[in-house]
Amino acid sequence: MSASTIAAVRGYRVWDSRGRPTVEAEVRLVDGSVGHAIAPAGASRGSGEAKDLRDGGLPFGGYDVRDAVDGIDTTIAPSLDGLDATDQAAIDRTLIDLDGTADRSRLGGNAMIAVSMAVAHAAAAHAAMPLWQWLGGSTPPQLPLPEIQIFGGGAHAGRRVDIQDFMVVAVGADDYTEALDWTAEVYRCAGELMANDSRLYGIADEGGWWPAFDTNEDAFAVLVRAIEWAGLIPGDDVAIALDVAASEFGQGGRYRLARDGSDMDSDGLAELLVRWVEQYPIISIEDPLAEDDESGLTKLTRAIGDRVQIVGDDYLVTNAGRITEAAAKGACNTALIKPNQSGTLTETLDALRTAHGAGWGAIVSARSGETEDVTIVHLAVGWNAAQIKVGSFARSERLAKWNEGLRIARCDGGRGRLPPRSAFPWWQK
Ligand code: PGA
Ligand code: ZN
Repeated sequence: MSASTIAAVRGYRVWDSRGRPTVEAEVRLVDGSVGHAIAPAGASRGSGEAKDLRDGGLPFGGYDVRDAVDGIDTTIAPSLDGLDATDQAAIDRTLIDLDGTADRSRLGGNAMIAVSMAVAHAAAAHAAMPLWQWLGGSTPPQLPLPEIQIFGGGAHAGRRVDIQDFMVVAVGADDYTEALDWTAEVYRCAGELMANDSRLYGIADEGGWWPAFDTNEDAFAVLVRAIEWAGLIPGDDVAIALDVAASEFGQGGRYRLARDGSDMDSDGLAELLVRWVEQYPIISIEDPLAEDDESGLTKLTRAIGDRVQIVGDDYLVTNAGRITEAAAKGACNTALIKPNQSGTLTETLDALRTAHGAGWGAIVSARSGETEDVTIVHLAVGWNAAQIKVGSFARSERLAKWNEGLRIARCDGGRGRLPPRSAFPWWQK
């Protein structure tokens, strides 16, 4: 038995940013090192994601996680007892075998990812290193370029507009600190513009302004004005990124934009998106078409993938096999990386490495249901992901992540070195 041997694993029930129960895992090692991690939760989920184990029934809308927490104490804990926390691959292999299902529905993706991440935290504590450094990050650390929501829509805002995320990326910022400074100004200016137009109705699930727009497209004009009002140049300093989350309003090749009262096929939606790209400084589109519309995704990537980042979320679900297939077909050029879509850190890293290996980009991402857990920031830095997506610039479950990035930057006295421009081949044309 070594000092990094797992001595105890416990599950706990805590609460997420939507006031729903979620799973916390605690891992203790023989030398007294401790790691904690909390599972996040999605609301617009891909059908191929690892399934959360939820109790169902009436309490808490069916979202309770007592079975998932019990599973940690009664099934996972005895199996991890005596394993070495520094061997993340062996730990995750044990979790996967123990679960034994393709969709992680026995133990629950929520229980598995909480334990998998807590093991990594315990191992980093044992090594007396911050997690990003334990995971192999360069020194001084490279911070990911943030993608930050200004307006929330879709499943995160009562479907007030169809597009789920209107985000900004501070492409011209010199460092992570400046990227946050600029985004904070754009967020504030967007709120003031909404207030001036009597359109300020509060915020959506991830902290973005509630999208009180007459059409989906209205958001772009306000976003461009907000960037200008902040004293920045749209496109050069701060560009626009979208998460269309098209699986939420389309399937079988048909799409319905309820806010615009329009119905269209895959080509129609693609044409609309291309028109928006031509008219507004949009540099990234996530899930532009539904997860079942591979031919549409391939066509769109072929059409504009040389100048726009085409990001697969619901379609790829942080799965290395799916990323390999999509890359072979030329569908998308960037993978969204959400640890709880896969269920373990090892599989998450595999997905990210597969994306990088295919010459793709990778964006480490939070979920719409979050907590104070900041593990994803360490994953992005430790794994050298060039971008991170956390939601907006309001609410503590979001700012906890942005602030953790500042803390990581500060550890070498820096403002947060960003990836070189070559990490963003789509934006240089
Ligand atoms: P979710 O959405 O966390 O609610 O699934 C986030 C996203 O689609 O990127
Ligand atoms: Zn998405």
